[in-house]
Amino acid sequence: CNYLVERSRGEIIDTLVDGLQRLEYRGYDSTGIAIDGDEVDSTLIYKQIGKVSALKEEIAREKPNRDVTFVSHCGIAHTRWATHGQPEKINCHPQRSDPESQFVIVHNGIITNFRELKTLLLNKGYKFESDTDTECIAKLYLHLYNTNLQNGHDLDFHELTKLVLLELEGSYGLLCKSCHYPNEVIATRKGSPLLIGVKSDKKLKVDFVDVEFPEDNAGQPETPLRSNNRPFGLGPKKAREFEAGSQNGNLLPIAANEFNLRHSQSRAFLSEDGSPTPVEFFVSSDAASVVKHTKKVLFLEDDDLAHIYDGELHIHRSRREVGASMTRSIQTLEMELAQIMKGPYDHFMQKEIYEQPESTFNTMRGRIDFDNNKVILGGLKAWLPVVRRARRLIMIACGTSYHSCLATRAIFEELSDIPVSVELASDFLDRKCPVFRDDVGVFVSQSGETADTMLALNYCLERGALTVGIVNSVGSSISRVTHCGVHINAGPEIGVASTKAYTSQYIALVMFALSLSDDRVSKVDRRIEIIQGLKMIPGQIKQVLNLEPRIKELCATELKDQKSLLLLGRGYQFAAALEGALKIKEISYMHSEGVLAGELKHGVLALVDENLPIIAFGTRDSLFPKVVSSIEQVTARKGHPIIICNENDEVWAEKSKTIKLQTLEVPQTVDCLQGLVNIIPLQLMSYWLAVNKGIDVDFPRNLAKSVTVE
Ligand code: G6P
Repeated sequence: CNYLVERSRGEIIDTLVDGLQRLEYRGYDSTGIAIDGDEVDSTLIYKQIGKVSALKEEIAREKPNRDVTFVSHCGIAHTRWATHGQPEKINCHPQRSDPESQFVIVHNGIITNFRELKTLLLNKGYKFESDTDTECIAKLYLHLYNTNLQNGHDLDFHELTKLVLLELEGSYGLLCKSCHYPNEVIATRKGSPLLIGVKSDKKLKVDFVDVEFPEDNAGQPETPLRSNNRPFGLGPKKAREFEAGSQNGNLLPIAANEFNLRHSQSRAFLSEDGSPTPVEFFVSSDAASVVKHTKKVLFLEDDDLAHIYDGELHIHRSRREVGASMTRSIQTLEMELAQIMKGPYDHFMQKEIYEQPESTFNTMRGRIDFDNNKVILGGLKAWLPVVRRARRLIMIACGTSYHSCLATRAIFEELSDIPVSVELASDFLDRKCPVFRDDVGVFVSQSGETADTMLALNYCLERGALTVGIVNSVGSSISRVTHCGVHINAGPEIGVASTKAYTSQYIALVMFALSLSDDRVSKVDRRIEIIQGLKMIPGQIKQVLNLEPRIKELCATELKDQKSLLLLGRGYQFAAALEGALKIKEISYMHSEGVLAGELKHGVLALVDENLPIIAFGTRDSLFPKVVSSIEQVTARKGHPIIICNENDEVWAEKSKTIKLQTLEVPQTVDCLQGLVNIIPLQLMSYWLAVNKGIDVDFPRNLAKSVTVE
């Protein structure tokens, strides 16, 4: 959204398309943009299935006049990961209210009551053209706009939006543009992230934006919607409240209270000398698409409704509540553009695998004093006494983040003597797991936006538990909603398959466990051993990366045409087996299963023959003899495993004389850290298996980086 900044249509298109390209890793089924047409009330929409490059080609084919200039303009764009409706052109966003595109919407999330809304709108004569839930929102805008206009109510864009939001159930991060409100945009969120970048050449007068709360003026019927007509389609609960309100002669209690706003607190973006400032606003679900233009951003919170027009940003609340924060501060992003570029690598995933010596170091930077064996986590320090008194730690996450919890559970139990449960967020919610005030919930998430983890977090907050976030994405929902936590500082992770976030989460969790035990004399030696082990990890990871040529060759030869792969691990290495198998499934589409070596004999052994490829974690720790025995069970069934083992391990050297096996050697570290080193060969293996199959590693089919829907 630009104001007093002259931009050609070409520049506007390029800015939006470039932004989409940076967001593509979050969804890449289909894309689309909406910008102003040549007439005041016309909108141009371009859509295409597939990646952003396809949209670029579509726009080039359509040949819009790129030279028309705008002093004030609002365009919206979207890259989609389908939830409702196939990735077809008609289902791409922006979705429109009608063929004239009076209201156009881009939307992340799911509107759960869209079927009811669609039925109501169909009954009112609206014709739907897509299978999406989002189209309902656009049509709802048009319907409420028309009905209010007919009743003589010429609503502001944000007032209209509040009425629309009253009807929506589910989650959304949405933008709306309309020819009835030219050069204005609405951005609102609930359960799906949105941030606003502010760019101006002049120094801005403000470094925060006030939230404009409605005045409490219930019972004073002077707002536009105070009529006897119940607004369209109020959900059953709101309808009951409405009816109750009507009977008391207190019409429209919800809508009415939302309307009389105190405009005095609106924030215009003035420069320091008080003159109106040319300014551009970049609204996005991810800082990666904004950082090229500005590092000044503010993060919207759930139920925030931002209305941008005439170079001003107004933030309203779509819901009344007590104790909500009154301002949204403008923060400075620390992200650098180079961090979200591929550099010399072919894929983001490859770049991120190779970044691990540095990213793991960054996780520890300034937090571990290796000379004095001390760990200080600033975001947790004040809360440690409460955590130490917990009856239980519940670690909750999804996907790879869940595996980092599994990998560190034992060291938490050992160092803290607190029982630890590890939960997949969706299952935790399905079971309605009992949670108590003296529980501590640890929420681990790269993006900080995963819907299941976020819902589990809210569930724990409602039950009074202390909540800790272990998050990569600064400013994300989980990092803001948790009481305290640790940013893992791995830097932006773009590859859909998580790699460097895993190793950094692992280290952050180990540091958390170390902090919990720093008052325990009995644990001193163990703590020193782990801290000194951590110091070596970045260098050891670097060393393992040298295995790449060997792994590449394995992937191009004996693993190439395999249909399935088993990974065996035990104790600390079980998590590595699960995470390795997940990586292989995610990007090479090969079936792969992580098996607890102790369980082999209880079923999985039936699969073993001379053909099934097996990778076993046979590095040294207290369970080593048991792992050796599991591997012997495999070789006795003619299996010939690849063993990930420590350098120069005589046991494997000896065995390889009589049994057909191969080894991949990795440096040895402390038992609870060995998983950090052991996962690297599997990351490389999944990468090369995928590349050899010609799979676009950064865009695996059917997956998205950040799953913001349940
Ligand atoms: C998605 C991603 C996974 C990730 C999981 C949890 O499934 O594809 O790579 O591990 O979400 O994401 P989070 O951002 O919460 O760590």
